[in-house]
Amino acid sequence: MKIDVIRADITTLKVDVIVNAANCSLLGGGGVDGAIHKAAGKGLLKQCKALVNQLPGHRGKSGEAYLTGGCKLHCKYVIHTAGPIWGGGKHNEATILANCYINSLRLADEKQCESIAFPCISTGIYKYPPDAAAKIAYESVRSFEAEYVKNVIFCCFTSRDEKLYQQLMAS
Ligand code: AR6
Repeated sequence: MKIDVIRADITTLKVDVIVNAANCSLLGGGGVDGAIHKAAGKGLLKQCKALVNQLPGHRGKSGEAYLTGGCKLHCKYVIHTAGPIWGGGKHNEATILANCYINSLRLADEKQCESIAFPCISTGIYKYPPDAAAKIAYESVRSFEAEYVKNVIFCCFTSRDEKLYQQLMAS
């Protein structure tokens, strides 16, 4: 599996799947979630509503991954995953964050996707320390044994995140 690090707006990428750092409502929000919904158009919210209606309690679970189409985006699918809200590190945050990456990759692989782009989940509004989050993201992806996924892209929005991932990949 090839791993790349880029600095870009994830909504512009031509890949099979982009991953959305969502919340458990799965109905949109700010940050990258807001940008994805804006670029995808109203069809995405419609699909998210239908998806949520099938879930117990009409909510997603942190660390799980949920699939919709890409609507107006340049991707086939969007995988929505809610990362942990940083609460100091003693609330299972690391495991939940790793699960976001692993469950998203599993779902992409099940759908026979070859390329998938991740944002830096939980490191914005959810305040996960970016360096610790990058290590978890990188290790989770590196240890994943994919059947179909050939290319994983860490799509950083800030130069700080881009540097963190470049350092990890060089180490
Ligand atoms: N492309 C790529 N990365 C982006 C983009 C973009 N267009 N916009 C922001 N980022 P955040 P979270 C980066 O806050 O911390 C939402 O309201 C950003 O720089 O989007 O998981 C949800 O609905 C950061 O590195 O997500 C939830 O309520 C990363 O995306 C909550 O925020 C994640 O920042 C989730 O918080």
